[in-house]
Amino acid sequence: MCGIVGAVARQGAVLQDLVEGLRKLEYRGYDSCGVAVADGAEIAIRRKVGRLTELEALLADGALASARAGIGHTRWATHGKPSDENAHPHSDGSGRMALVHNGIIENYLELRRELQAEGRKFSSETDTEVLSHLVGRELARGLSLADAGRAALSRVHGYYAIAVMAVGKTFELVAARQGPPLVVAATADAAWCASDVLALLPHTRDVIYIEDGDVAELSPGKVVLSRVDGSPVSRPVRHIDWDEEAASKRGFPHFMLKEIFEQPDVLARTAFDRILQLEGDVAFEGDGWDDAGLKRLERLQVVACGTALHAGYITKYLVESLARLPVDVDFASEFRYRGPVLVANTAVLAISQSGETADTLAAMRLARELGCRPVSICNVKGSTVVRESEAVILTHAGPEIGVASTKAFVAQVIAGFMLAVRLGRARGVLAVDDGRRLLDELRCLRPRLEGLLTEKTLSAVRRIAEKHVKAKGFFFLGRGVNFPVALEGALKLKEISYVHAEGYAAGEMKHGPIALIEPGMPIVVINSPGKVAEKVRSNIEQVKARGGHVIAIGADRESLALADDAIEVPDTIEWLSPVLNVVPLQLFAYHHALLRGCDIDKPRNLAKSVTVE
Ligand code: G6P
Repeated sequence: MCGIVGAVARQGAVLQDLVEGLRKLEYRGYDSCGVAVADGAEIAIRRKVGRLTELEALLADGALASARAGIGHTRWATHGKPSDENAHPHSDGSGRMALVHNGIIENYLELRRELQAEGRKFSSETDTEVLSHLVGRELARGLSLADAGRAALSRVHGYYAIAVMAVGKTFELVAARQGPPLVVAATADAAWCASDVLALLPHTRDVIYIEDGDVAELSPGKVVLSRVDGSPVSRPVRHIDWDEEAASKRGFPHFMLKEIFEQPDVLARTAFDRILQLEGDVAFEGDGWDDAGLKRLERLQVVACGTALHAGYITKYLVESLARLPVDVDFASEFRYRGPVLVANTAVLAISQSGETADTLAAMRLARELGCRPVSICNVKGSTVVRESEAVILTHAGPEIGVASTKAFVAQVIAGFMLAVRLGRARGVLAVDDGRRLLDELRCLRPRLEGLLTEKTLSAVRRIAEKHVKAKGFFFLGRGVNFPVALEGALKLKEISYVHAEGYAAGEMKHGPIALIEPGMPIVVINSPGKVAEKVRSNIEQVKARGGHVIAIGADRESLALADDAIEVPDTIEWLSPVLNVVPLQLFAYHHALLRGCDIDKPRNLAKSVTVE
């Protein structure tokens, strides 16, 4: 969380580029923001609590418009409330350096005491300010900025991505990483750094993802990389195939709605090139998905967070049913601290949109240390999860900007489905004909998804959302492969509409939660034809008998007929029904949040990429 940018140009002003970069990174945190720029021998810092528009107002006088270098930050508070004082950049009070930071300095209290004892004055509650003073102390001893940064970083425990600038005899800009992501790039007359490649796309599509322990020195047209111990290092330049247009709203009022509507295309991009129709199989790029390796597997351990975790639960149903391989799924944040016991020949499957989620990465690394083979389903090509995986299924969903994940989820479920087919075929559990039949259904899904994304569905969903806009709370119920869809529907509503919503396994309701049902309480039930459809119908009856207001979603006609409100979804096989069933739930959360006047793309307290524990 938190977004950082940095730029240094030979000629030309960078302030506007920094602000535009921050706009692309606002999804990472948006409680305050700021910039520091150098023009001549002084550094000017402007920072403000609130959204970027507040900062822009502060910069409107144009005083800093001609600066040739600077850094910027958009914050998701960890240490200290959102305030002007706690907003980044931070400095050491000398006026000659400034620093932005994404991450956590764990030993900041001890370092703060040490620095205060030397007479250094602190003006914020942040952990970051400690780092500014550490760098400032080394600069005062005459070190270059890169060496001062190295010396400072050797004192801190924790994880960080930083950009730090200093003015002295010359201007210097340095970026470093230990944990959170950082990309750097050199163009003919400038150099750039940012937390996410999205902020660099207006300038270049050729970027370097720096690794943990790397330090980058940026100057116009040049990036020099070294390790934190000073030894030189080089990293590959990677070409990004996303363009700027893909990261714009394209006329939709919100990124979330645009991304929901992109789902049919995402399905095609994730699936179609990989289908081997004749063989009833799929082919993933890269090594690591061959029969021999997959046959040896005895277990799959999924680790993920949030929406990606829900895709993981669906993957469990799919892989266990279609490939008969046991699958465990765990919250990455629980897995990493519970002393997991893993059997031999387990692969750890990290599922992540960003590929940078701190808990997911740590869980994946732990499993690797315990002997598991790390593999992943991920949306971001050069991300840390991808780089640390031995085999990867890229989801090709394109940049997802809305904080509430939608298209990335659909892509993850499709990837999970294809992985189940691949495993089934490799392990000899799934016959060619069965593989073909499953993949045929996958091919037919795109027009069905398109058929669902019509004005008819939108207005039906809007009407239901209007009816329940004042509801105190919601239940979302599902069974089998649609149980995780219930979890996801509830999560979407919580995230963007701030309403209490609980996802539950429909069959488990009677063991407690049913006590919560009062007459009129909205209960969203997801049901599609399949093994458990009849059971879900009984659960609907149980809810109705207690006065619950049932909103049925899915292709099971009988459930739709039983319900008080219904959204019919095109039919498909049970295994692919989550891809269709989740769409009305995404739209429901969207409309509910809209009616309640919530900030859909930037919900309170959340961040899209959670790079802290
Ligand atoms: C955050 C986001 C969620 C996302 C989760 C995992 O909590 O707000 O939307 O599902 O992180 O992110 P990842 O990038 O690993 O999929």
